[in-house]
Amino acid sequence: MNEISLPQREAPDSLMLYGFWYRALPGKQVGGRHLQKTMLLETPLAIGRDGQGRAFALHDACPHRGMPLSHGLFDGQQVECSYHGWRFDGHTGQCTLIPSLTADQKLKIDRIYAGSYPCEEHDDFIWVFVPQLPPAGAGFTKATDAPMPAPRVPTFSEKYKLAYLTADLPCSVDHGIIGLMDPAHGPFVHQAWWWRSRDSIHEKQKNFEPIPNGFRMSAHTPSSNSAPYKLLRLYADAESITTTIDFVLPNLRLETIRAGKYWFSSLTTVTPITRSHCRIDVVAAWNIFRWLPLGPQLLKFVFAKFVEQDRQTMEQQSEGLKYNPHLMLIDDADRPAKWYFGLKAAHLEAKRTGGEMKHPLPGPVTLKWRS
Ligand code: FES
Ligand SMILES: [Fe+2]
Repeated sequence: MNEISLPQREAPDSLMLYGFWYRALPGKQVGGRHLQKTMLLETPLAIGRDGQGRAFALHDACPHRGMPLSHGLFDGQQVECSYHGWRFDGHTGQCTLIPSLTADQKLKIDRIYAGSYPCEEHDDFIWVFVPQLPPAGAGFTKATDAPMPAPRVPTFSEKYKLAYLTADLPCSVDHGIIGLMDPAHGPFVHQAWWWRSRDSIHEKQKNFEPIPNGFRMSAHTPSSNSAPYKLLRLYADAESITTTIDFVLPNLRLETIRAGKYWFSSLTTVTPITRSHCRIDVVAAWNIFRWLPLGPQLLKFVFAKFVEQDRQTMEQQSEGLKYNPHLMLIDDADRPAKWYFGLKAAHLEAKRTGGEMKHPLPGPVTLKWRS
């Protein structure tokens, strides 16, 4: 069989994008005299919090002989490696002490760095900027600042509530992301008696437009199928409700629903941990139900249900993906997934050539599907 007679293979490439901010951990998992071990893009990290509460992220391997610094001692400012006692500043990674040196040995220890990464904490999460991989064997130098601030959950009033959910997914970041933007699985995966049955499947039409590094499902009155929408309808008449969903590289899904002075927004990320494992984190903010004690629990319940259904589905899917099956993406339901791969490829190509990124969406487009 020749290549042309086969449908185009559209397999995720599992490439991870460096040079972006990623959610590392929920902030409450980090504190005290302990460095929390974690991983982003196959990069081992030791995350800590200094005496003033500021989070930092170090490469979790001592520049001397590779002992994970997360096994070391932390005094609130400096980390002491558990193997030979070298000490490093938590924020800069700069070496401050090598106990084995004698007074006449003039090694310039301040030129030695444990790798450190730009680190910010927002909306209950610690974010880490993962830079382009350094050339192999280059060693660590002083960390450079991130070129942009970490993403935030959009908010539209001074007072609001915030909650998050997190789940590990046993698949590559690409399957995690296209699973997130896929509209056609809804009636089959997200069934619940209080939500919808598969018989409620109907034709939908949505407008999309290109935005920098991503695409937007344009502001529209939601037809029926976003989780907080049914709840918002208790507060405002259906026509005044608008929702916008953005996808932005490398892994951000922003949903904003507004109904008069009420709003709900969420920032969902699918973070590559390794090539074959990712994590989904949903952080939501809202100013509805603030007076209602059960409101947040209700929202969390609805979201937890959805995320768990997706997680289970992807766990089952990973059995099928293990042996590298042939995959295909169809129009229009899988078009957002195609755009995602297009954006990724365009981003990498622009990086390679140093030129402008060629956006895969030339302009606004309407997609139709049944879900
Ligand atoms: S490996 Fe860390 S001090 Fe030697
Ligand atoms: Fe889903």
